[in-house]
Amino acid sequence: MISSVKLTPSSFTSSDILTRKCSVPKPKFQSLPTIQNVHQSSNPSFSSQKPLYISSIESFSLVTKTQKRAPSTTKCRAYEADRSRPLEINIEFPDEQARFEAAQRFKIGLYFATWWALNVVFNIYNKKVLNAFPYPWLTSTLSLAAGSLMMLISWATRIADAPKTDLDFWKTLFPVAVAHTIGHVAATVSMSKVAVSFTHIIKSSEPAFSVLVSRFLLGEMFPVPVYMSLVPIIGGCALAAVTELNFNMIGFMGAMISNLAFVFRNIFSKKGMKGKSVSGMNYYACLSMLSLLILTPFAIAVEGPKMWAAGWNQALSQIGPNFVWWVAAQSIFYHLYNQVSYMSLDQISPLTFSVGNTMKRVSVIVSSIIIFHTPVQPINALGAAIAILGTFLYSQAKQ
Ligand code: 3PG
Repeated sequence: MISSVKLTPSSFTSSDILTRKCSVPKPKFQSLPTIQNVHQSSNPSFSSQKPLYISSIESFSLVTKTQKRAPSTTKCRAYEADRSRPLEINIEFPDEQARFEAAQRFKIGLYFATWWALNVVFNIYNKKVLNAFPYPWLTSTLSLAAGSLMMLISWATRIADAPKTDLDFWKTLFPVAVAHTIGHVAATVSMSKVAVSFTHIIKSSEPAFSVLVSRFLLGEMFPVPVYMSLVPIIGGCALAAVTELNFNMIGFMGAMISNLAFVFRNIFSKKGMKGKSVSGMNYYACLSMLSLLILTPFAIAVEGPKMWAAGWNQALSQIGPNFVWWVAAQSIFYHLYNQVSYMSLDQISPLTFSVGNTMKRVSVIVSSIIIFHTPVQPINALGAAIAILGTFLYSQAKQ
């Protein structure tokens, strides 16, 4: 009798871990091999490990009463695997598995904490810069430029491996980059006109845009609870918008356009990236570079160097040299938070990601209200809370 034992912790995905109960599963046994299926195996696979194969077991417990029991002569000869015909019995060892799950949970927690913290810092510096220098097209361009430069340096110095891309890759990336550019500029324009918290309250309604676009443009159907979850999202955002003390139509529309653009960005990236093997970090780097190329001529056309020079000098005279650091911080942190969010997408399911994104908005809304002393009426806060709750219900309903 020939058998192999193989540990399979890698068969778990992080999304499994988040959705699974923490109880340790019972060992799973595949059906035991027979000599017949050994010979029938026409598609041998190879294992990277060197499993211990038990070559022969004599008097090894499964003895019938009628069989003679040899007195203490259990022989178990082992030899290194004949890898041409592996037969696998998957036995998951509870200890290994629990350790693996704990490590994964820690890693994902770390990704989330980093992503939210970087995002909060970006939003604060972005708003500080926009208050002193209201040129969102330039600040959006600088964010993409900083990210592109950082990644080019990382590739050149081999801190990160450059991705292997072809023309096909850049062609499929193009519509994603167009949507990313529009979504990014629109959100920045919004933040230049209204409070950061208001932009993010409106941005929390992104799932509603996702469902409506998927339903009416792509003909996708969703279960009833998904549609129901849109009621608090839309209702909550509407309540927050009508009770917003510093409401501004450009700010509101900017956040709405950003939502729509990011829905298309997600649809295009899902369609285009199937089967491509570029890591999340490098994917986002390429996206930044292409978006930078797309955005630069538009930024020059809409605002232009003359306005930038005048605005820059005025901001410098008001704030002092610190202004330059604020611009650097908003640009660098924009890239970093997006990079971490794309890296965490590699590790978690889209569902977990969208829950994480909702929680990220809560941390941005709360911290920006505190830092900028944004006036909030109770009814306005209620609207925001209903919208966020709706987003959370949406992610549960989608599950
Ligand atoms: C941007 O400038 O691109 C937006 O602030 C992005 O917002 P989000 O990543 O929180 O959706």
